[in-house]
Amino acid sequence: MRTVRVGAVGFVVVALIGVACAQDKKPAVITITVPERGYKETVVKVDGDEVIGTGATRTFTTPALEAGKEYTFKIEALIEPNNYTKITRPREIKVKAGDAAKIDLTTEDKKLDKIVVRWVPTPVDIVDEMAKLAKIGKDDVIFDPGCGDAVMLIRPVKELGAKKGIGIDIDPKMVAEAKTKAKAEGVADKVVITEGDILNEKDMAGAAEATVVLVYIGDDLGARMSPVLQKLLKPGARVVSHRFKLGDWKPDRTVTVKGADGDDYVLHLWTVKEKEKK
Ligand SMILES: C[S@@+](CC[C@H](N)C(=O)[O-])C[C@H]1O[C@@H](n2cnc3c(N)ncnc32)[C@H](O)[C@@H]1O
Repeated sequence: MRTVRVGAVGFVVVALIGVACAQDKKPAVITITVPERGYKETVVKVDGDEVIGTGATRTFTTPALEAGKEYTFKIEALIEPNNYTKITRPREIKVKAGDAAKIDLTTEDKKLDKIVVRWVPTPVDIVDEMAKLAKIGKDDVIFDPGCGDAVMLIRPVKELGAKKGIGIDIDPKMVAEAKTKAKAEGVADKVVITEGDILNEKDMAGAAEATVVLVYIGDDLGARMSPVLQKLLKPGARVVSHRFKLGDWKPDRTVTVKGADGDDYVLHLWTVKEKEKK
């Protein structure tokens, strides 16, 4: 067997090449801007790992990168503007060795961002106030996008004799609970609940039949849903929202009512006009 010996000179050359390559490798620094603290500090992840830090900017230093090559990093901000809304905002950034890159995650991307609003029920007496504001009567069809346990449908149908209630909820557990409650209250034949996403126009088909919308969904989802509602609702339909506005819609009336629990509740009313339909 022949052995190839690398002499001292060869060893030095190999070592120098190694050092040169290592010197060519450099990290990139990514400055990430995120929404300021809401209910909780925004969490930032790069390729799944949390970037430790607080406040509006976080700095991530990549591992050493080979010169001339482009690398993609997945950045994700987990934003909690309040205690019931979670927004996941994913983005990607391409960097090269030595870059000082910036990425802004403060603005919404309707296609990429995911918004989850958890169930928080509207108290029964506030549902009654909303029904009063909408002047619900026996000919009305009520629609609740994000209906939870369907209190906003069961109550007007049972207590005010409204013709029908239509609700959708993204959470199958809430859909099951709403159906059980409608049955227990004896209005299952008039309250139709389905699983659906308020951001999906097909799932929102009930809005086209509605004369009244009662809603409690949060600013972020409300803003995203409002163009779909605007498109589907008939002129003359009344919309009453518990607390939150619907994007840039300007309410016809805003009232504050005292709840049985002693808290103040803000309610907004809109009536769909012909010119608002797009
Ligand atoms: C604040 S709760 C309001 C429940 C009910 N309308 C009330 O006022 O008692 C919001 C509900 O919307 C549902 N929801 C959240 N995101 C949704 C989406 N994209 N599509 C449909 N429902 C959604 C939640 O599961 C929750 O039940």
